[in-house]
Amino acid sequence: MTKELHVKNSVNEGDAELSFLPMQSADLDEVLAIEAVSHIHPWTRGNFSDSLTAGHWAYCIRPQLDQVIKGSYLDPQVLWAYCVLFPGVDELHLLNITVSPKLRRLGLAVRMMSAIEAVAAQQQMPRIILEVRPSNSAAVYLYQSIGYEQIGTRKNYYPENSKTGLREDAAVMTKSIKLEP
Ligand SMILES: CC(C)(COP(=O)(O)OP(=O)(O)OC[C@H]1O[C@@H](n2cnc3c(N)ncnc32)[C@H](O)[C@@H]1OP(=O)(O)O)[C@@H](O)C(=O)NCCC(=O)NCCS
Repeated sequence: MTKELHVKNSVNEGDAELSFLPMQSADLDEVLAIEAVSHIHPWTRGNFSDSLTAGHWAYCIRPQLDQVIKGSYLDPQVLWAYCVLFPGVDELHLLNITVSPKLRRLGLAVRMMSAIEAVAAQQQMPRIILEVRPSNSAAVYLYQSIGYEQIGTRKNYYPENSKTGLREDAAVMTKSIKLEP
């Protein structure tokens, strides 16, 4: 998917619009800086590069504002969030969604998920599927709040948790998408 998406968003006081820009190799330093502080087992540069090479749909989300405030979070140079999607035959698989720690609980992930669902609908993909650590309550609450339901468990899916020394199961969650005519 090469086209840019623009999503109305009400982060901060202005009526900011989010830009979904295809992730490039040049974005990876910024992406990795957020990834490293966001996940128990962060993706590596190699994981992201492989994903880009494989043609996954990877987006960087930046603000798009009429009035740019350079050097602030309203600077379109600043990375707000990113996501990686794998387009299957009849489902869109969400592989990664991460919001910059300083911009959480502002509704960004909900806006992103809504844009992702719109893409699935446009592309005639009747469901979105994802895995989540049951211990990741922020993500589980997010998905539940927007209508995702658990359909199963993948045993020992996640690498060892350094705190517990155990591998962790994944909850598999899905949401049906109303397709565009
Ligand atoms: C999970 C994550 C993407 C949520 O992003 P976000 O932009 O902060 O989420 P939103 O502001 O859109 O939150 C939407 C809803 O999700 C739930 N939620 C989000 N963060 C939460 C938290 N820390 N605790 C409890 N509920 C939370 C709430 O229901 C929230 O609605 P509310 O703020 O009205 O209560 C973000 O915390 C993140 O990047 N985490 C690290 C990476 C990660 O875990 N990704 C998901 C992997 S499966």
